[in-house]
Amino acid sequence: NRRYTIAVIPGDGIGKEVMPEGVRVLERAAALYGFTVEQRWHDFASCDYYARHGRMMPEDWKEQIGSPDAIFFGAVGWPETVPDHISLWGSLLQFRREYDQYVNLRPARLLPGVPSPLAGREPGSIDFWIVRENTEGEYSSVGGHMFAGTEREVVIQETVMTRFGVDRVLRYAFDLANRRPNRHLTSATKSNGIAITMPFWDQRVEAMAANYTDVRWDKYHIDILTAQFVLNPDRFDVVVASNLFGDILSDLGPACTGTIGVAPSGSINPDGTHPSLFEPVHGSAPDIAGKGIANPVGQIWSAAMMLEHLGETEAAKAIMAAIETVLKDPGLRTADLKGKAGTEECGKAIAEALR
Ligand code: NAD
Ligand code: IPM
Ligand code: MN
Repeated sequence: NRRYTIAVIPGDGIGKEVMPEGVRVLERAAALYGFTVEQRWHDFASCDYYARHGRMMPEDWKEQIGSPDAIFFGAVGWPETVPDHISLWGSLLQFRREYDQYVNLRPARLLPGVPSPLAGREPGSIDFWIVRENTEGEYSSVGGHMFAGTEREVVIQETVMTRFGVDRVLRYAFDLANRRPNRHLTSATKSNGIAITMPFWDQRVEAMAANYTDVRWDKYHIDILTAQFVLNPDRFDVVVASNLFGDILSDLGPACTGTIGVAPSGSINPDGTHPSLFEPVHGSAPDIAGKGIANPVGQIWSAAMMLEHLGETEAAKAIMAAIETVLKDPGLRTADLKGKAGTEECGKAIAEALR
């Protein structure tokens, strides 16, 4: 019997509403496909935990999490009570760095039945992966804040790129492109304006490309790349980007496919030295939290990505098929897709559609 230990961390806001639906589908997939999921729920990495303990996670969070096969995460952040940089640097960004999850893998795929806000786009015409660097780059803690409150106040935050860090995410992206039918890779750059780190990024892309002669590759500056996402999304296959550029592109890509509410992601440690983490792209959505109307598909699709990562390919495919079946029915869509279904109704429908 295949058995997986999963750390389950719902977090804040709609994270707590979509997680039960993710878990419902996971359990159903396990029953149908003959594996066992042992869930270990944690209440930390949430602003509720912060309110009780004055910090986002216990000091021994690594011991408490142990060595699960994967981490299933909801969303974190509640800016009304904890400033975002405190809550995020104290939780999610710790996981990504401490667990060396250097790849953030995020699909943009137009699913059958889901209307794209872009005119004339059919299912299948948008289908690409964003590979985002996830441990360094613009998200750095190198910098300083001096002369606070005076007219001489200065803030500096450095971008950190290491050859090791850039090369490993590029290798992952080229490997992925090499396995796709179109074998095409696009690199997001800004080497015209950001004239030290970005030319270095370009140089490493070119060096890595030399190892992948079957992969066609190109690069766009990030400004025009965002325009191309909207104008010609069918152009893309694998898009590799630095931490910040990848963050921006991975909200824009899914928005072009109808809603960020369906988008999943994996913060992956490809070397297997630490657990990988699977979570929706979206945040805790304070504006709709508590109403039971959040779209659970991002969380459920993240479960599919997690199962794929664990080698349960058939179950992962079945979850995708169930998501597609349900989304084709306008009556089962949530409000972000102009439907009337609640989070639980949509989640239950997907669990029931599983075969
Ligand atoms: P958000 O993704 O939480 O919400 C943006 C908009 O999208 C909101 O209007 C929201 O209602 C809508 N939305 C998001 N997910 C949805 C879903 N599943 N169904 C329907 N509508 C959905 O981004 P934000 O408002 O910038 O951030 C809110 C908080 O979440 C902040 O604290 C932020 O730092 C945090 N955040 C966390 C993560 C994460 O945990 N990975 C990601 C992004 C933002
Ligand atoms: C994401 C989020 C995070 C990020 C925030 C909440 C720190 O936007 O997962 O995309 O920027 O990576
Ligand atoms: Mn983001």
